[in-house]
Amino acid sequence: MVKIGVINVSDRASQGIYEDIPGKEAVRLIRDYLVTEFEPVYRVIPDEQDQLEETMKFLADEVGCCLVVTTGGTGPAVRDVTPEATEAVCEKMLPGFGEAMRAESLKIVPTAILSRQVAGTRGKCLIINLPGKPKAIEECLQIVFPAIPYCIDLLGGPHLESDPKVMKIFRPKQK
Ligand code: MTE
Repeated sequence: MVKIGVINVSDRASQGIYEDIPGKEAVRLIRDYLVTEFEPVYRVIPDEQDQLEETMKFLADEVGCCLVVTTGGTGPAVRDVTPEATEAVCEKMLPGFGEAMRAESLKIVPTAILSRQVAGTRGKCLIINLPGKPKAIEECLQIVFPAIPYCIDLLGGPHLESDPKVMKIFRPKQK
């Protein structure tokens, strides 16, 4: 079974003060986009770099997720450490993901420039940071999702297929 990790990074959600809406929104969107069945592996953790690194390593190395998306903790506030944790666990960074999400998001909201979101690979796992607001999660995920299945192909992961009516993914033609 294909496994996809979702980590909601939030001090308040992890204490039960806020409902975990961002994580649920990420799962809803991925379910909407993909026809390939997958099991979401779900975590809600505080903005603590050590815990975040451990959780990303666990989901990539032990659970075998082909994709991990994080929500929240990408801004400039003192407790925002999601990009630092992601860079610490990734072997290769994929700057195009952050660049594309910020560039397209800036057309929607000026404060998109405040997100330091990154993406990278750890073994066969692609890790992508998304902002924490549900609206921002959808805006960002739909920008980069077309390239995600082919990236996972290149990492030697499972073959993901989308519902083209909802999300058109792109795979270059084989020579
Ligand atoms: N990107 C999109 N597409 N839409 C948004 O509303 N909000 C921004 C930005 N990126 C936003 C966005 C704001 S206000 C902040 S502070 C940063 O993401 C960081 O959010 P985070 O700390 O929840 O990760």
